[in-house]
Amino acid sequence: MAGGISDEDIQRVREATDLVALVGERVPVKPKGRDAWCCCPLHHEKTPSFKIDPGRQTWHCFGCGEGGDAFSFLMKLDGVSFPESVRILADRAHITITEQNGKPSTPREKKSRLKKVCEATADFYHQQLMRLRSPEADDARAYLQKRSLGGVVPKTWCLGFAPGHGSLVTHLGKCGFTPDEMVEANVAVRRDRAGLRDRFFNRIMFPIFDEAGECIAFGGRVIGSGEPKYLNSQETPIFHKSSVLYGLNKAKEAMTASGDAIVVEGYTDVIALHEAGITNVVATLGTALTLRHIRLLSRYASKRIIYLFDGDAAGQRAADRALEFIDYSMTPEAGASRVELYAVTLPNNLDPADYVTSEGAPSLQELVAHAQPLLSYGIERRLEQFDLSTAEGRTRALPTALQVLAPIKDSLLAKDYAIQLASRTRTREEDVLAMLAELKPSGAQVSHREETTEAEVESQAPQKPHSTRTPMPLSAAEKSRRKLERELLCLFAQNPQLALGYAHVLTQTQWHRPSHEKLANELLDLLIEQPDIAPSVLLSTLVTRMPETANALSVTIAETKTQASSMAAYMAEELLLGDLEDQIALLKNQLKTDQTLSAADHDALFQSIVGLQKDLAQRRSAQNLL
Ligand code: UTP
Ligand code: MN
Repeated sequence: MAGGISDEDIQRVREATDLVALVGERVPVKPKGRDAWCCCPLHHEKTPSFKIDPGRQTWHCFGCGEGGDAFSFLMKLDGVSFPESVRILADRAHITITEQNGKPSTPREKKSRLKKVCEATADFYHQQLMRLRSPEADDARAYLQKRSLGGVVPKTWCLGFAPGHGSLVTHLGKCGFTPDEMVEANVAVRRDRAGLRDRFFNRIMFPIFDEAGECIAFGGRVIGSGEPKYLNSQETPIFHKSSVLYGLNKAKEAMTASGDAIVVEGYTDVIALHEAGITNVVATLGTALTLRHIRLLSRYASKRIIYLFDGDAAGQRAADRALEFIDYSMTPEAGASRVELYAVTLPNNLDPADYVTSEGAPSLQELVAHAQPLLSYGIERRLEQFDLSTAEGRTRALPTALQVLAPIKDSLLAKDYAIQLASRTRTREEDVLAMLAELKPSGAQVSHREETTEAEVESQAPQKPHSTRTPMPLSAAEKSRRKLERELLCLFAQNPQLALGYAHVLTQTQWHRPSHEKLANELLDLLIEQPDIAPSVLLSTLVTRMPETANALSVTIAETKTQASSMAAYMAEELLLGDLEDQIALLKNQLKTDQTLSAADHDALFQSIVGLQKDLAQRRSAQNLL
C-alpha cells in the first residue's frame, strides 16, 4: 500500500506503462543498441547521457546521476508525489485504480462518458456552423470571416455555432446521453421541472481540448458585441480551468522541438498565431497562469516559457501577477533543471492576434526571441514607474525595484541584480546589498490559493510547495479599490436582479484580485442560467462554490431595494472610473519611457491621453453630483 493505493494496482500500472514511450513524450528518444538514449530532461544538456533500459523499465542519467523507474521519473520531472505519479500513469494507461483513503475520485468510466458528451457536442456545434441555414448562423460565419477565422480555421479548431433552443439537448438525447450526463458535462442546464435547456445559445463555440486532444469544455463567444463576451464551461469532473491550457494538444510538438512555450491571453490569439505558423502557443482560460500551468508546460518546453502580455491594462496586471512566480528555482543555485520564465509586453495596446496580423509572424518571433527574463522584466517594470533622472525618483525607485528580488534575496543572482540596481539608481553597492539583506525573508509565505483553489479542491494531489512571494505593501488607493470591488460584488450577490443590468461592468472591469474576478464570473454564470434565481439560493450556491467568500458576502451593503440600486449605479461607475485612471497612468508611463515612439506616435499617444483625461474629468464631476 502506498497513499491508499494497493500494491496490485501499482503493479498493474507499472506493467501497463512503457518507460521509453513515457520519456519520449517529453524529449526525443533514440534507440542505441538494446537501450534508448536521450538528453536528460532533468538537467539540460546537448549530448544524450540519459539511458533507458526497456527490458528492466529503468532509467539512469550519467550526467546528473539520477535514476529510477517510471514513477520516479514523473516524481523527479514534475515534482509530484508517489501516489500522484501512480494516478497519472494509471490515467494514461486507462486503468481504474481504487483508493482506500482520500476522497473518492470520479470513476474513469464516468469521466470518459462526460468526454463523449463534449465530443458529441463539439461535433454538433461544428456541423451547425458549417451547414445550418438561419440568419444567426449566417451572422456567425460572417463574423468569423471578418476576423480572419474563416477558411480552414473552423475545421482545424473544430469551431462551432450554438443555435440554442434546446437543439443540442435534443441531439444529445438521440445520441443516447442522459440528462444527468448533459448537465454534468455542463453543456445543458436544468430549469425547474420543465426539463433541460442548452447552456450555450447563439454563440460561436471554441471547444477546449485536454493535452491528449479530447474535448473537455467550451468557450462560447457572442457574435459581435455583447455581454458576457465569453461564456466558458464551469468546472466539471473533467474540466479544471486552472490546469488546462487552450491549444496545448496542438502546441506540444512545437514546444518539445523548440524548447519554448509561448503563453497568450485569448483563444483567438492562439488560433491567429498557430495559423501564422507560430505553433508553440497556448492560452490560459481567462485566469492567471498558475503553478500547475507552469508544470504542465515544462513537460514539453525545456528552455523557456514566454508570456506575451497584451499591451492593455488587463495585460499589464497579468504581468504583475506573473512576477509572483519568481522563486529560488530561477536561480543558478537551483541547477539547470528548471525551465525559465520570460516575458514580453506587446507594444501599442495590441494583443498577439492584432500584432501578428499587422506586423507579421517574423516580427513577433523577433519580439519573443528578445523576451526578458521575468526577473529583469519585473525590475524594469518597477523602475519604469519612476523618473530616474531625478534624485528623488531614484531614491523612490530603489526599494520598489529591489522588492522583486525578495523571494530570492539570498541567491547570487539577487546580488548581481542588486549591484546593477545600485548603478541604475546611483546608489553605493554596499548600501543596496545591505537593503537586500534586510528585505523580508522569503519565508513570509503567502500561498497561491487564489489561483489554485478550484483545482486544489477537486484533485487529490497533495499540496505542493507553492512558490513564495513577498507581498508588496498595498497603497491606500489599491486598498480602497479592492474594498470597492468586494462591496459591489456583495451588493450584487444580495440583489441579484440588479446584477444582470451591470453584466458589462462585471465582465469588463479589470478586477484587482483574481478571487473577485472569479466571484463575478460565478455570479454571472448563475444568473445567465437562472435569471430569476432567489437571492438566498444564489448566495448559498456562491458560498458553496467559493467558501472563502462567505464572510465578505455576509456584510449588509444596502438596506432597501432603492438604496441598493442607487449604490450599484454609483459603485459600478466608480469601478469603471478606476479602470480609466489605471489606463491613463499606463499610457502616461508609456509616453515617458517608450523610446521607440516616433514623433507622430508620441503626439497621437499624447492626444489620446488628453482625451481620456477629459472623459475622466467629466465623468468624475457627474459622479460627484450623485
Ligand atoms: P480578451 O477580451 O482579450 O479576448 O480576453 P480575446 O481572446 O482577445 O477575444 P476577442 O479577440 O475579442 O474575440 C482574453 C481571454 O479571457 C477570457 C477568454 O478566455 C478570452 O480568450 N475571457 C474574456 C472570458 O473568459 N470571459 C470574458 O467575458 C472575456
Ligand atoms: Mn484580446
